[in-house]
Amino acid sequence: METIVTLTKNFDYSGYISILEISYLLASVLFILGLKKLGHPETARSGNLWAATGMGLAILFTILFHKTRLDDGTFEGIHNIGWIVSALIIGSIIGWFAAKKVKMTAMPQMVSLFNGMGGACAALISLMEFPKMQNHLAGQQVTTMLNGEALAILLGLTIGGVSFAGSMIAFGKLDERIGDFKSPVLRYINLSFLFILLAFVLFIMFKTPVSGENWMIYTLAGLALIYGVTFVMPIGGADMPVVISLLNSFTGVAAAMGGFLYSNQAMLTGGILVGSSGTILTILMCKAMNRSLLNVIIGNFGGSAAGSAEIGDKTVKEISLSDAAALLSYSQKVLVVPGYGLAVAQAQHLCHELENLLASKGVELKYGIHPVAGRMPGHMNVLLAEADVSYDKLQEMEDANNEMNNTDVVIVVGANDVVNPAAEDDPGSPIYGMPVIKAWEAKNTIIMKRSMAKGYAAIENNLFFLPKSRMLFGDAKATLQKLISEIKNF
Ligand code: TAP
Repeated sequence: METIVTLTKNFDYSGYISILEISYLLASVLFILGLKKLGHPETARSGNLWAATGMGLAILFTILFHKTRLDDGTFEGIHNIGWIVSALIIGSIIGWFAAKKVKMTAMPQMVSLFNGMGGACAALISLMEFPKMQNHLAGQQVTTMLNGEALAILLGLTIGGVSFAGSMIAFGKLDERIGDFKSPVLRYINLSFLFILLAFVLFIMFKTPVSGENWMIYTLAGLALIYGVTFVMPIGGADMPVVISLLNSFTGVAAAMGGFLYSNQAMLTGGILVGSSGTILTILMCKAMNRSLLNVIIGNFGGSAAGSAEIGDKTVKEISLSDAAALLSYSQKVLVVPGYGLAVAQAQHLCHELENLLASKGVELKYGIHPVAGRMPGHMNVLLAEADVSYDKLQEMEDANNEMNNTDVVIVVGANDVVNPAAEDDPGSPIYGMPVIKAWEAKNTIIMKRSMAKGYAAIENNLFFLPKSRMLFGDAKATLQKLISEIKNF
């Protein structure tokens, strides 16, 4: 037994190390292909599986093949395998049940929670590695900690800590456990905190390492956590999807720092992919809302209807269920524009039922999907997919707009801002310039909502007052149910 252990220790592991590197390369390829597949609803599910397989592979091969060269030139494998496997099993069970149980409407909260865990992992890696590095440098009698390793550790802790604390606040806000806390003072506090954080990172890097001196790293961790809280606290609850995407990119960058630290290509590629895709998604969301990121962060949206174009006497016309049923039954082309209210009412299954019913009467029904309809990216696609609506029935905004003149009826189901003409014709409106679905260009428009209440941007919608528009008031699910019965009896 003694001989075997010595033989294993003295074995030249260079062959195993390259197997590990190949596995990381393979994992990175799987991440990239998985990410590409996520770009289309039909391939998104398998894309997720591909990326998860890449991550599983990287973890398995690290456990099996990672070896550390000791000072005496021998190699040793990973310790604490029992703990690692137990943590993997417990984490997988919790993740599996959480993902199975979560309601579609609570998805942003879950993404936020999981993202926070990623940030916490990156921060914990730094907390663990800093004392080791500091003791090592102190032993070498180095005068400062000015090196790449220290920078990766400190940035990993700062960004990971901000991402963890910020994600927890975002989770609390989305779950309506924490309210908005707006104060102009907070902006100055935040800027000061950011400055203090960066200055403290520099202070640590220029300090002479002293073995066992850990107060600095814990202070930095504390500051990062406080900044994460004060950064997200003043941002409006409805802006959280954009903030979560931003925090997601922070977690990616923090994980990439771990990749630098351990020269681990899979961690580095994974972190960079999450960081860059999170940044791109944040930019795309802001663009689709025609707002700058700064505007989202300082919470400047809505509240004012100043400058919105007025329409004459401002009266709305209602339509009865029987008239709506007749109009739809005699149409050829119908477009449903779903919005946040569809998610609230959970009316997606009834939309699909209406689609099938109209199809049986020779009426073609499609769905016009606005990129920021609802409250999270792809919200409408996910809801409609849940109701088994075929992907070829979903039309992107541009295609829906191109066909609008030939559309007999547009049914707006719980949407508001995404069909607001002010985006096109009112330079004073906060949503001016945001691309919208031009429901007013169709021959008829039926709007399903409960009242004349405003949408997320808190502005008036003149679509409701146009001569071709008619309101069908009520909860979208109840209204659709009645409309379907009416069409069946027609
Ligand atoms: P909104 O403009 O928020 O309008 C939703 C409408 O649904 C409301 O006017 C509401 O009117 C109606 N509604 C609510 N519950 C309903 C129910 N049970 N039945 C029927 N109607 C109901 O939604 P939208 O048009 O989807 O626009 C999305 C907005 O969110 C945009 O301004 C976008 O910029 C913003 N946003 C989107 C995202 C992403 S990534 N999707 C992220 C952040 C912000 P009543 O109360 O009168 O019923």
